Amino acid sequence: MRTSLIFLITMSLINALTAQNSEKNEFISALMSEMTLDEKIGQMNQYTGFYDPTGPIPTDGDAKTKYDHIKKGMVGSVLNVRGTKDVRALQEIAVTQSRLGIPLIFGFDVIHGYKTIMPIPLAEAASWDLESIEMSARIAADEATASGLNWTFAPMMDVGRDPRWGRVMEGAGEDPYLGSLIAEARVRGFQGTDMSEENTMAACAKHFAAYGFAESGRDYNTTDIGLSTLHNIVLPPFKAAAEAGVATFMNSFNELNGIPATGDIFLQRSILKGKWNFQGFVVSDWGSIGEMIPHGFAEDGAQAAEIAVNAGSDMDMESHLYIHQLNKLVQSGTVDLSVIDEAVKRILGVKYDLGLFHDPYKYCNEEREAEVLNNTSSMAQSLDIARKSIVLLKNKNDILPLKKSGNHIAVIGALGNDKNSPLGSWRFGSVDNSAVSVVEGMSQYQYNNLSYEEGIALVNGETSFANELDINTSDRTGLKEAVELAGKADYVVMVLGEHGYQSGEGRSRTDIGLPGLQQELLEKVFEVNSNIILVLMNGRPLTLEWADQNIPAIVETWHLGSQSGTAIAEVLYGDYNPSGKLTMTFPRNVGQIPIYYNCKNTGRPGPQSQVFWSHYTDQTNDPLYVFGHGLSYTTFEYQNLNIEVDGNTVIAKVTVKNSGNRSGEEVIQLYIHDKVASVTRPIKELKGFSKVSFSQGETKVIEFVLSEKELGFYNNEGDYVVEPGAFELIVGEARKVN
Ligand code: GLC
Repeated sequence: MRTSLIFLITMSLINALTAQNSEKNEFISALMSEMTLDEKIGQMNQYTGFYDPTGPIPTDGDAKTKYDHIKKGMVGSVLNVRGTKDVRALQEIAVTQSRLGIPLIFGFDVIHGYKTIMPIPLAEAASWDLESIEMSARIAADEATASGLNWTFAPMMDVGRDPRWGRVMEGAGEDPYLGSLIAEARVRGFQGTDMSEENTMAACAKHFAAYGFAESGRDYNTTDIGLSTLHNIVLPPFKAAAEAGVATFMNSFNELNGIPATGDIFLQRSILKGKWNFQGFVVSDWGSIGEMIPHGFAEDGAQAAEIAVNAGSDMDMESHLYIHQLNKLVQSGTVDLSVIDEAVKRILGVKYDLGLFHDPYKYCNEEREAEVLNNTSSMAQSLDIARKSIVLLKNKNDILPLKKSGNHIAVIGALGNDKNSPLGSWRFGSVDNSAVSVVEGMSQYQYNNLSYEEGIALVNGETSFANELDINTSDRTGLKEAVELAGKADYVVMVLGEHGYQSGEGRSRTDIGLPGLQQELLEKVFEVNSNIILVLMNGRPLTLEWADQNIPAIVETWHLGSQSGTAIAEVLYGDYNPSGKLTMTFPRNVGQIPIYYNCKNTGRPGPQSQVFWSHYTDQTNDPLYVFGHGLSYTTFEYQNLNIEVDGNTVIAKVTVKNSGNRSGEEVIQLYIHDKVASVTRPIKELKGFSKVSFSQGETKVIEFVLSEKELGFYNNEGDYVVEPGAFELIVGEARKVN
């Protein structure tokens, strides 16, 4: 009886979905049969709005041109236009003045929050809290859709191993397993269970693919990687996003092994639309179609458009080539009409799924906009995930947490009073200078004597998103006052690191130490007071050897968003026990880069008694802080790892005890090492984790189940294989090496 009931329910769901799909296909086929070639090409054209450029603005086209093109049905999407008033204004032109009234889809970079800014994605990843990460994206979607938007260019899921690259702040770090789970969580958060709801939006898996492997960490630089890295490290998060139902993909600026991603048939057609059966559409990254000319892959705009559309790039963001070249290419027979039809079908499909044909103004509700964007309840989520994203890197002699009374605490550093940098570099939907600063956060604890000195300016003059920052490397005004204050204080909280615009797109650095004169400030203060708590505010791993050797406490707080200062204060005063773990390795120096935990053993592992093994003569192989590292105010003991093998399933159990004197959360991590395989495997691969709360003294048994899904790998042909053999299982907190 039960089985047939489940069967009936399942069948009716399948029938309903099938019926829904056939309705969608019928609607789209009927609409496309009405469309001229120019109107089809119009759907493949995306213009930026009239402000907030996030890329080099092309010389031609202006607000008036775009209005005219919208009227003529020559625009399918607009990015960087937001606010119900402005969105409605453009939508009305498309819907009421163009011949077929096809609605526009409005895209925007809702990367880590919209009005309420959440921690940067690299920080959120350090929470290892998938539910919280999903909730963060859900709130971002709620706010962005209230502001007229229905498409976000997120989640970014580029695996990054090179902290010189400014965009590591935007991803989930160096591990594909964790990156895949986080990508899925963010897609769920943005898209919800029904994209036609008024508070859900289309997500976008980006940047497809291998953008994070830009040589020497220089943004937009050449990417040249092996097939094993491509299949086992780069692609898994994208596959996970596709399987999670992400509505769109965005390709990447880089060439991959000689082929610009925008023109890469292997990536976009063989893998994405073929093997993975992706049904959504691919948007090019800003101008990347035209950039195939400087790449040396296309002679001119016409050839660039031809290559891109044949390679599966369905929509052209801001190169203006599809709108100017595709009609001629089809008329001349260079591009087959079927290629255009396939792209347009995909684009119309996403608009249909968003419900835009049913109600093109569903995201233009001014009352909802006012209500949602002024609702401060989202600040609670921003604070919650900010706390969880903080990583305690060092805490010698338990100097932390600070006592809440009876101390004179000096806060020193330009970032200590900075309300802008905590918002990170992708925060255009929010209000500048709206974050809670560290000084404001700590001032909420009134029973200490709190003083502040900037010490040294981090930047000279004004800062803006699009310009190079002028980092202060000469003006020592304020240094004397800061050192004097430090000499009188019981403790010094030094807030140092990177300005919010020192990471993100176009912000690669060759020296990833503390920028400007901050290291000098730190050392001068240390001379008069060694009771220093170093609070780092940064968008990438930094090189911190001197600090690690000398400073008793180091707290990694990234750029934590709107509630930054409150979260930091709660951790420093112990109201929240830090639980974050690094998802990206911290090198000792730039010379070690790329350095990552899931590396290979090589044929000459060490250490060995002579020089002929894989090592440096001037530096250890070990990083400063390993992937998965993060301390707590309590301690955890791991015992009794027990393994059972049942066919192709491995069940691992480990006993974990909170052996310290307060409650806390621990991220128990399970790694495997496939000792011998037909393609060499990393010495460690994360294949399971569990974030668990423990009361003081509590012991729990944590269980992991490993199936073929976790025990296999992709061979160089891109086939997933599971091979028999010996595996090592490693469970336990990642410790700082040596
Ligand atoms: C930028 C970025 C991309 C972003 C797009 C639109 O250049 O590379 O991540 O979504 O343009 O702003």
